[in-house]
Amino acid sequence: MNASAKELAALLPPGFTLGVATSAFQIEGALDEDGRGPSGWDVFAAKPGAIVEDQSPAVSCDHYHRMPEDVALMKDLGIDSYRFSLSWPRIQPGGSGPVNPAGLGFYDRLIDLLLENGISPMATVYHWDTPLPLEEAGGWMNRDTAYRLGEFAAIAAAAFGDRVDRWVTVNEPATVTTNGYALGMHAPGEALMLKALPSVHHQLLGHGLALQALRAANVRGEIGMTNVYSPMVPASANPLDKLSAGLMDVAQNRLYADPVLLGKYPDIIRAATFFSSSFSPSSEDMDLISQPLDFYGLNYYMPTRVASGPGEGAVPPGMAEAMGDDLSGTPGAPFHIASFPDTEHTAYGWPVKPDYMAVALAEMAERYPDLPPVYITEGGASFEDVVVRDAAADRRIIPDERRLRYLADHIGTALEATRPGGAAESVDLRGYYVWSLMDNFEWSAGYKQPFGLVHVDFDTQVRTPKASYYWLQEVIAARRAASAAHVPGAAVGQQEPDADAEPPRPAG
Ligand code: BGC
Repeated sequence: MNASAKELAALLPPGFTLGVATSAFQIEGALDEDGRGPSGWDVFAAKPGAIVEDQSPAVSCDHYHRMPEDVALMKDLGIDSYRFSLSWPRIQPGGSGPVNPAGLGFYDRLIDLLLENGISPMATVYHWDTPLPLEEAGGWMNRDTAYRLGEFAAIAAAAFGDRVDRWVTVNEPATVTTNGYALGMHAPGEALMLKALPSVHHQLLGHGLALQALRAANVRGEIGMTNVYSPMVPASANPLDKLSAGLMDVAQNRLYADPVLLGKYPDIIRAATFFSSSFSPSSEDMDLISQPLDFYGLNYYMPTRVASGPGEGAVPPGMAEAMGDDLSGTPGAPFHIASFPDTEHTAYGWPVKPDYMAVALAEMAERYPDLPPVYITEGGASFEDVVVRDAAADRRIIPDERRLRYLADHIGTALEATRPGGAAESVDLRGYYVWSLMDNFEWSAGYKQPFGLVHVDFDTQVRTPKASYYWLQEVIAARRAASAAHVPGAAVGQQEPDADAEPPRPAG
């Protein structure tokens, strides 16, 4: 037994959900099969230079054909819940109008298989794969897309509302706006900078309409939405650095969380819109956006260190290179992202700062007094993996100690922070979903940034659990053992104890 696995298990409150997360476009492949329509991401990814080494999402993890194998990996891992996304272009190929029965059928089978295996389904309605006809009509710059998302949510609710335990309406609108519409690093590849602002409001409105549709359909699951949150850290005590960090905080955090949790945009945004007629949200819109949630989804990966002045680039140091993109030099930019000194970084160039997991939760609690229960809907790290051949045992080993440590430290910090007396004790933290179950298509970074607990060989499609997978398996087994010891005969989570369970056979 790895001592830290046992220690972490001891920290887990009763009923705490441990899960893994993926998204449709990143794992499914089968882009042209069974009636799926094209998405804005299909077109963006096909543009020369858009993706590292022009890698293609066409096959990715081939999950569309290997779904039962992937559910078996989750079952062996022992997780309580699986967060996946519904592919809009697979279910409603045109983004409006007819539904594709084969698309619905795929998720029917997935959800049923999860439930048969005691894994609770969490479905994300929108995780960035906008159907192409909608993208061509302006995507999230067009208000109509929000109404189309509401209709899509109604379709999903009618099909799966009886079996999905938790719904996430929209995933990380901040990333879609910043990377997709402001900087052009993600689909649709627009570099509108501040003119991208309407895409914020339209996504949040899409969230509100999707939430309304799910409630109207009386789905039995809980409903929430997911924002990414990155604490902003001024590079120095210099007032300009502080001001810069405050502006980044508005642009990346408050702009998305305030409307949902407080029912209004930050003051500075409202003041700015005084000068622009293109963005004037009505009170009806704000009511839709701020409807009560059953839970709030928080994706936490890292804090951001901010300094005034143009600096060297628009993205964290190392990330531009990792994405194969020339984003260096943003002449005239008022501030930039700076590195944390003496800090470990992931392969993406992201700082590894578990203590800021607690800061993120504490800031959320302070800003949003009526914060609903929270699930950390994503957290994880990309590190270059090395596959080692264990000749004696005739198997492959992937000793991803750094990813394992990242997860142990972040989950542990989140649990400590939300205990009585912790820095974020008022936060009702209900669960943590590891990003990701398996290595996958990491958007513009292609297959170059592996986040998986399971390694995927993209030539052979062989899946090999990494050390981090076996560690999480130990955490879950230790929790089960501890709870069985306390209450004779009781099992925590939704799975029966299985002391003799063999880990899945590592592929040779
Ligand atoms: C997204 C995922 C992505 C992950 C790692 C999140 O922003 O929701 O789709 O793969 O972070 O970059």
